[in-house]
Amino acid sequence: MPIIDVSNYRNLVVLTGAGVSAASGLRTYRGKGGIWEEYNISEVGHVDRLRDNPSCIWQLFGSLRADSLSAQPNRTHRVLAHLEEQLQRSHNFTLITQNVDGLHQKAGSRNVIELHGTIHKTRCSNHECDLQPFDDTNDYANSCPLCPRCNSPLRPCIVLFGEAIPAYESWQSKRVLRDCDLFVAIGTSGTVSPAANLVRGAEYSGARTILVNLEPMNPRNPYFHEEYIGKAEELLPELFKVHLI
Ligand code: OAD
Repeated sequence: MPIIDVSNYRNLVVLTGAGVSAASGLRTYRGKGGIWEEYNISEVGHVDRLRDNPSCIWQLFGSLRADSLSAQPNRTHRVLAHLEEQLQRSHNFTLITQNVDGLHQKAGSRNVIELHGTIHKTRCSNHECDLQPFDDTNDYANSCPLCPRCNSPLRPCIVLFGEAIPAYESWQSKRVLRDCDLFVAIGTSGTVSPAANLVRGAEYSGARTILVNLEPMNPRNPYFHEEYIGKAEELLPELFKVHLI
């Protein structure tokens, strides 16, 4: 495995997925022991459930909220936060995450685009309601909460299946890919679009593209130039030569 000297790059973009939080005790979505092995995506992860069974959304994502609140960042989160800190004056470092757990920010990362939202906020499911999204630590294990303004079900501020990526986050991620010269995807199965297509944008911009994942992508994504297979929390310190105490 080579050592990547990040000072050789001006515009670094890192894309992370659920695999980076596995070492913090949070479950991935796919693969052995994954959330979608236990739950059916269309039964609990789809936007249509807000209409007919909003409680089931909280049953799953309420417990993810509770788990995320008690989880601590692991070495992958800390290496990425360290790189950003080290490069902040002379380079652009953007972390695009599909994770809703907030662990990158807990580790100290600042320039984070949360493509799939955050589990730590709640909002009203009624688009016409003027209730603002608010910080929330309640897991609503027993029943779905209702909006104090319009009585519609409240929902976690995450992107459900059948919903679009929030416009601002989508625009931000496309913008940083335009100038990207190093793109590293970590801990993602590469099965969910549009995140799965970001590597293509980076490659079109001429970036060096790298995947770090526990297993090879299946099917292989030809836009990745290099693939390093193993646990991110073990590979990343070697790859970037960052050894934290
Ligand atoms: P997945 O669960 O689909 O994939 C996680 C990937 O991480 C798998 O390929 C694992 O092999 C890998 N992995 C597991 N442990 C690892 C480790 N220690 N180091 C490196 N890799 C490891 O997660 P995502 O690709 O993030 O959407 O899934 C994308 C989206 O699908 C999620 O954001 C979620 C889900 O449905 C929403 O909830 C909106």
